[in-house]
Amino acid sequence: MKKLEHAIESQQFDKDTLDYLFRLASEIKDDRTKYQLPGKILATLFYEPSTRTRLSFESAMLQLGGQVISTENAKEFSSNTKGESLEDTIKVVSGYADIVAIRHFEIGAAKRAASISSIPIVNAGDGAGQHPTQALLDLYTIQDHFEDLNGLTVAMVGDLKYGRTTRSLCYLLGRFFKVNIIFVAPPICAMADDIKAYLDSNSIPWKEMDFEHAVELADCIYMTRVQKERFLHMENYSKAADKYRIDLDTLHLLKDNAIVLHPLPREQEISPEVDHDPRMIYFEQAQNGVWVRMALIKMLLDG
Ligand code: CP
Repeated sequence: MKKLEHAIESQQFDKDTLDYLFRLASEIKDDRTKYQLPGKILATLFYEPSTRTRLSFESAMLQLGGQVISTENAKEFSSNTKGESLEDTIKVVSGYADIVAIRHFEIGAAKRAASISSIPIVNAGDGAGQHPTQALLDLYTIQDHFEDLNGLTVAMVGDLKYGRTTRSLCYLLGRFFKVNIIFVAPPICAMADDIKAYLDSNSIPWKEMDFEHAVELADCIYMTRVQKERFLHMENYSKAADKYRIDLDTLHLLKDNAIVLHPLPREQEISPEVDHDPRMIYFEQAQNGVWVRMALIKMLLDG
């Protein structure tokens, strides 16, 4: 297995690396004390808001016996405001920490950081680009529920244009599994052509479909929030918002053994009144982020 230097995009993960990572995550889940990295320091550099990704990375490092340094609003509270380049920031932070998790508002920022960094860089979300560690924990969660992913129908619903989580998940699913993918999005938020072309090149069937039909067909439904913050014009956001919702009125459409994921945060697209349904596994999915990120940090720092 090739040593992992950085974690920047989903396409860099081969099957051996994925299998190893997920085995390690499961071992860590069973016994959190099994793998430790005492003395190691994680820097979290977040130029965009986050609850799950930043805190689960920090929890992961603390549970590995390491330490954390952090700037949670780097766009305003780091020397970014004084005009410091991302490259200079990374060169400096490389002297303070052993690994960096970075969330940035620009597509490609994590790749730029990795190109000049002497320590591992983890992409914790780069604008509307990718969110590979979310895709890893999503896939880990799906695999935990289905013995064989081949033949499954996965519906991705919501903001597929700006949704970096669905982009990253398509790269992973499309490369390793013979799944059927359904995209459900308002036209203004349709999945981008590069992902459709990627699925075509891997002979993965995909369709665009209406919500109700997709929910009836899908084994795995991946709901997403329409990302208001990425729209330049609010009239376009209004055209995309509040179109799809899983609630007590639509719950009956789901297959008995379906699962519903969401990277969170959610808005109206999943009503809290359905949280009790065992098919709604988004909180379990968020928890899995800690085990997968612990395993990833361990692999990046220890090989
Ligand atoms: N899923 C996710 O990326 O959530 P946060 O924005 O809270 O990190």
